[in-house]
Amino acid sequence: MKVIVCENYDEMSAKAFGVMKELLDAKKDAVLGLATGSSPVGLYKEMIQYHKDGYSYKDIKSYNLDEYVGIDRKDPQSYYTFMYENLFKDIDIDLNNTHVPYGNTETDCKAYEDALSEVSIDLQVLGIGQNGHIGFNEPGTPFEELTHIVDLTENTREANARFFDNDINKVPTQAITMGIGTIMKSKKVLLVANGENKADAVKAMIEGPIDTACAASALQNHADVVVVLDKAAASKLS
Ligand code: F6R
Repeated sequence: MKVIVCENYDEMSAKAFGVMKELLDAKKDAVLGLATGSSPVGLYKEMIQYHKDGYSYKDIKSYNLDEYVGIDRKDPQSYYTFMYENLFKDIDIDLNNTHVPYGNTETDCKAYEDALSEVSIDLQVLGIGQNGHIGFNEPGTPFEELTHIVDLTENTREANARFFDNDINKVPTQAITMGIGTIMKSKKVLLVANGENKADAVKAMIEGPIDTACAASALQNHADVVVVLDKAAASKLS
């Protein structure tokens, strides 16, 4: 893994965009894997600025990692809405080329996985949960899992309650997510993490054993991973 440590969130976002920009410039029809959450918002702002500077995303395709089960796409808390508000509405990507998983059945999972196997993700953007999850692959998820439905842990629901009026009872209990097996198929991985609350997970991902107890540790087996951190998230690395 290549690890880049930055002073702060803005520098982290700019450095991460630098990694993505190499791909965008080389391949106008690149396939991006995208994540929601607070970590990549600065990276998405950089992507928007690049569009304002003249770059066209019209042939870019995107596939998101995950979505809550049981909330409507148009719900303000859906991951589809998140992507629309934080990126898609401000760039010229064709919305028909954007994909966010949806549903709660085996068939829905297989349909998403089938769609993914027809393309090949050039660059998968990831954040990391405090418990080391990537996508919604919680601790204990077998590394070979493909797109599947998960029961969210209390820890993850608590962390996400900030988006649901700080009320954990409003946070959905399940999600549909690419599996670690799916994520590992992408050609390159770009993981961003900031803040002290991510320091333990970051250490386990980079320096810990490769074990399902930290889903992100699977990335040690991927040939091309760039991890961009702020100082606080990197503070426990030896
Ligand atoms: C989001 C996702 C999650 C987040 C993780 C970190 O699509 O798959 O794994 O990346 O929960 O979230 P933030 O960035 O909000 O700390």
